[in-house]
Amino acid sequence: MTKRYDELYERSLKDPEGFWGEQAQAIDWDQPWDRVLDDSDAPFYRWFAGGRLNTCYNAIDRHVAAGRGDQTALIWDSPVTGQKAQYTYSDLQDQVARLAGALRDLGVEAGDRVIVYMPMVPEAAMAMLACARIGAIHSVVFGGFAAPELAKRIDDATPRVILSASCGVEPSGVVDYKSLLDQAIELADHRVEQCLVLQRPTQPCTLVANRDHDWEAAVGAAAPAQCVSVDANHPLYILYTSGTTGRPKGIVRDHGGHAVALQWTLPNVYGVAPGEVMFTASDVGWVVGHSYIVYGPLINGSTTVLYEGKPIGTPDAGAFWRVVEETGAKALFTAPTALRAIKKEDPEGEGIAAHNIQSLRAFFLAGERSDPDSVRWAERTLGVPVLDHWWQTETGWAIAGYPFGVESLPVKIGAAGRPMPGYDVRALDEAGTDMPAGELGNIAIRLPLPPGTLLTLWGNRARHRDGYLSHYPGHYLTGDSGIIDTDGYVHIMSRIDDVINVAGHRLSTGGMEEVLSNHPEVVEAAVFGVKDDFKGQIPMGLVVVNSGFSGDESALVAELIQCVRDQIGPVAAFRHCAVVKRLPKTRSGKTLRGTLRSMANEEAWNMPATIDDPSVLDEVAAELERLRNR
Ligand code: COA
Ligand code: AMP
Repeated sequence: MTKRYDELYERSLKDPEGFWGEQAQAIDWDQPWDRVLDDSDAPFYRWFAGGRLNTCYNAIDRHVAAGRGDQTALIWDSPVTGQKAQYTYSDLQDQVARLAGALRDLGVEAGDRVIVYMPMVPEAAMAMLACARIGAIHSVVFGGFAAPELAKRIDDATPRVILSASCGVEPSGVVDYKSLLDQAIELADHRVEQCLVLQRPTQPCTLVANRDHDWEAAVGAAAPAQCVSVDANHPLYILYTSGTTGRPKGIVRDHGGHAVALQWTLPNVYGVAPGEVMFTASDVGWVVGHSYIVYGPLINGSTTVLYEGKPIGTPDAGAFWRVVEETGAKALFTAPTALRAIKKEDPEGEGIAAHNIQSLRAFFLAGERSDPDSVRWAERTLGVPVLDHWWQTETGWAIAGYPFGVESLPVKIGAAGRPMPGYDVRALDEAGTDMPAGELGNIAIRLPLPPGTLLTLWGNRARHRDGYLSHYPGHYLTGDSGIIDTDGYVHIMSRIDDVINVAGHRLSTGGMEEVLSNHPEVVEAAVFGVKDDFKGQIPMGLVVVNSGFSGDESALVAELIQCVRDQIGPVAAFRHCAVVKRLPKTRSGKTLRGTLRSMANEEAWNMPATIDDPSVLDEVAAELERLRNR
């Protein structure tokens, strides 16, 4: 019944070099590889070692050379500003080459890092492609992060140049990107010498003399730069993601494996052919945006949609369906939280009925667990397959899913599909033994991971090894727990670490605890994720304050909430916090976060045998109840 998928998947595991060597033929190489899979430095693997290529060439120039120059490459739709624009592959080639020339004029060379801190404007995608063109390594920072988070990334990536814009536009108002940028540069230890700033008419900004350059002027004056041939393993980008501490992890992606993997996914996972339109409603600041707003559709010669708006409120819950109608999108990809938002606002699906969405073949979800109700609602109202798939910033593309372009696997609501080629997915117990089918385990993937997955962590190979490769030797630890059922479907249940997922945004509770603990009145803090019908999860925090504190507790709580907003960003949605006398601890002094999480989520929990003083839990339970009912 699932013959084509089974054959393809089995071959990818039995003969990875043959399988990926064949897929790599769909990419244009300047020089062929010496080895498809280089395992000489295991457990760190390299794909297509010795090969040379350029990702920007594969995403733009080769399509122009092949006669697609007049085809639309990128459609920008911005309901928040009332603007729309279209760029053909030739337009994109011209603008990206000039922007790459402007970067060169600022002294950017292959291997230099360039931070991109921009809203959802076409220039953000051009910035990424321009870096790729000259072998510079981009690092896009999501706009919803506050200045201190940007500063951390500046210090880690040490960029030669930052590309930014005067402002972003959110439904709640104009976001002053430029002042956040200025603050971050001030906070960072690394000296940023040059910035290229796009002036948006909504709110232009003042440029800092001898540091900031006007985007339009610099690009206008620059000569186009040609694509530079780089090694297959040359870093294409660093994308920071949350781990268990406040220090973000810089996931490094290569040129070669990444291009091969994404090229495979467009027709096979999403069923999108060259010349067809893919609409990914996410943000270029997240991995989904990197892979399926920018690189994937373009490498495939398709048309991508860059949408600066929300699923609801810009202006209504019919916004996605309007874009599908106007662009003729064949595939739509978004986060379950966006689907929940639409369903809540438009339960009868009137916004869907008001638009002609006949072009749509499938609707893809990822980023967090999909709730069955919303999936069924979407199936009913859209009349197309609704396909969940599971992946991570680290992997860059789906670990498990429904290979829509290969064959229609039966959909199991609640499962994220079956493993994609090259991913040998296991549910393991603590000792590393496979769990029986249907039983919960830690999800790990046997090495090597397929092409396109993380090369390493920027400047921190030890953290790569310790965080992902040491727990189960010979495996990559995903950080998720789940089940593999008797039909081989993967069900992702929850994280096994302190990472939470708020409205599709991956955040570290450890990072929030650090912010709270740094407040002079706070002795210690615990932050954990609580289920939320709309955002999937929201963070909840408990703090213990100095014994001499005599101020107003609610004023302090308001101040702490503001601290998280100012230091991590509005996306953290940290609004639930309370002061308690003590936190529950083990006898060795470790905070019982797991127990707190279970209590807050009203899940069954057992009194931990190691608890120091069980009476603490009574007070904590009362506070959690109060927070939950707010
Ligand atoms: N730049 C600046 N600020 C941003 C931002 C950005 N790119 N994105 C979000 N924010 C701000 C918002 O303005 C909001 O600020 P506020 O507290 O002042 O209102 C805050 O961050 C939280 O925003 P958001 O998470 O978008 O929540 P919301 O309640 O405004 O909207 C959804 C809810 C479901 C509409 C929205 O979260 C959404 O579309 N999520 C999809 C996420 C996604 O695409 N994830 C990628 C994985 S596929
Ligand atoms: P990110 O790195 O931001 O893409 O977040 C990755 C994490 O989001 C994963 O480790 C999971 O915890 C969660 N996630 C992503 N997709 C899914 C899915 N389809 N089902 C359940 N959880 C998911």
